[in-house]
Amino acid sequence: MSKGSKLPLNESLLFLKNAALNPKQIAYVFPSTRWLIRAIADSSQLQSAKHIVELGPGTGGTTKGFLSQMTEDAELIAVDINKDFIAYLKKTISDKRLSPVLNGAQNLKEIIANKGWDHADIIISGIPFSTLPKTVAKEIMQSIYDNTKPGGLFVAYQFRDRVGQLATPLFGQATTCWVFKNFPPMQIFIWKKS
Ligand SMILES: C[S@@+](CC[C@H](N)C(=O)[O-])C[C@H]1O[C@@H](n2cnc3c(N)ncnc32)[C@H](O)[C@@H]1O
Repeated sequence: MSKGSKLPLNESLLFLKNAALNPKQIAYVFPSTRWLIRAIADSSQLQSAKHIVELGPGTGGTTKGFLSQMTEDAELIAVDINKDFIAYLKKTISDKRLSPVLNGAQNLKEIIANKGWDHADIIISGIPFSTLPKTVAKEIMQSIYDNTKPGGLFVAYQFRDRVGQLATPLFGQATTCWVFKNFPPMQIFIWKKS
């Protein structure tokens, strides 16, 4: 799992450079801390899932945290629209359970079908919904809802609650908690699809 403030310098610089170049897509200048990663992984019931999707892995701190909690026969698709991040994941994480995919979260149906799955058991998102254009944010949320299996979970970590405004009409009420040992502090939202 990521060591929070002890991230490798090249990983921090890659994140910072891309955050400066794509502020609306990345929104934060620091990757998630180990405290936040642990809290997201603990909230996601990863040990009980086989087909997991991560949206917005960035430089992969969250990805490594999720892999460390998954069973040996579970699989994780990590989807990001940033080609530098996907190349970095491919170079730095050697785990046969992980499939990094360069694509947009709007295209989950195609991404999941390419893997031979019908649905995801759990979708975890770090995508900053509050800084995306409204139509894109809505399209991504519909894609998440449509591709989560009934009984499955959608977990999001966000500073603002725009994700709640988008997801609650589809999924119903979320369970939430705040993690303050992160910059900025993050709220974790957990929805169960009925
Ligand atoms: C705040 S970063 C999260 C990085 C990492 N998971 C962490 O917590 O440190 C948000 C990520 O969402 C990605 N992203 C933004 N829009 C996206 C989209 N439409 N589809 C997939 N990924 C997207 C960005 O490229 C970025 O890697």
